[in-house]
Amino acid sequence: MTAGYPPAGFPVARPRRLRRSRPLRRLVAPVEVRASGLVQPLFVKEGIAEPQPVPSMPGVVQHTRESARKAAASAVAAGVGGVILFGVPAVKDSRGSAADDPAGIVQLALADLAADLGGDTVLMADLCLDEYTSHGHCGVLTDSGEIDNDATLARYAAIAVAQARAGAHVVAPSGMMDGQVAAIRAALDDAGFPGVAICAYSAKYASAFYGPFRDAAECAPQFGDRASYQQDPAAFDGDALREVALDVAEGADIVMVKPALAYLDVISSVAAAVQLPVAAYQVSGEYSMVEAAAANGWLDRDRTIMETLTAISRAGADIILTYWATEVAQRLT
Ligand code: PBG
Repeated sequence: MTAGYPPAGFPVARPRRLRRSRPLRRLVAPVEVRASGLVQPLFVKEGIAEPQPVPSMPGVVQHTRESARKAAASAVAAGVGGVILFGVPAVKDSRGSAADDPAGIVQLALADLAADLGGDTVLMADLCLDEYTSHGHCGVLTDSGEIDNDATLARYAAIAVAQARAGAHVVAPSGMMDGQVAAIRAALDDAGFPGVAICAYSAKYASAFYGPFRDAAECAPQFGDRASYQQDPAAFDGDALREVALDVAEGADIVMVKPALAYLDVISSVAAAVQLPVAAYQVSGEYSMVEAAAANGWLDRDRTIMETLTAISRAGADIILTYWATEVAQRLT
């Protein structure tokens, strides 16, 4: 560092002098990953006796009800802000009947966690049909095999109420159907759950990064893809902002962008455009690529994890859903 640097009047926001030591960098760090802003996703599978490893996501398992209770308790003890549940039912059908069955796996797991953890954490539930349908699409289909948007909304409304009854504090519709937030808000209010919040997957892209999740949740589409309802990765942020504005107008309480790392521009635009909390989902493929590279000794695992989470926070996410939530929260506290 040269004496007299920077020249008078030159706009240097953060002189290198402030980067000299870790304590100085920490003191002036403008963003920080908060344990309380991290959400731990948990997969709960019906009809298994032991947790099942997910091969494409080393370190992630499909839980039994019992192991989900333990994982949720450790997540909360580590200081995460919440958990989000995904159900993997034993039986799938064309309308995804298990999704709103009061005895369905997610409802049972939500009730377990509500009993164990009560008001100590935020219980979120992914609200979609793809884990429950035999065809693997996020909605019900017409006879010709297209997504039937409005018939799907009726299913989402029923699922929201079932999840709220089971103890969800936040439902998170992830199917990208038109009008889903309004339909869910109305159903929750009518059923006496005006206090249950909606975290809308507002800007969700048709992404290759969901690949490993489809193993974990056993929900790969059996034909076609999700490109007719999820957003085109090539679309500029204006499309995302339109989806976000619609969700906000329909009553979303939290808006989400997904995936995270490849969509930092979208997170940043959404954060600038709305006053509501913005969530970002660091999805399965983002997890697996770091784990795979780290397992090969190609990346420093812990630093890479923190760098990605810091970048997502810097882009403007208040809440981050990440498979590393518990581990990172432990490290932060
Ligand atoms: C749909 C849903 C998906 C993810 C979360 N909710 C899969 C999809 O849209 O194909 C992906 C999450 C991840 O990849 O970690 N219910």
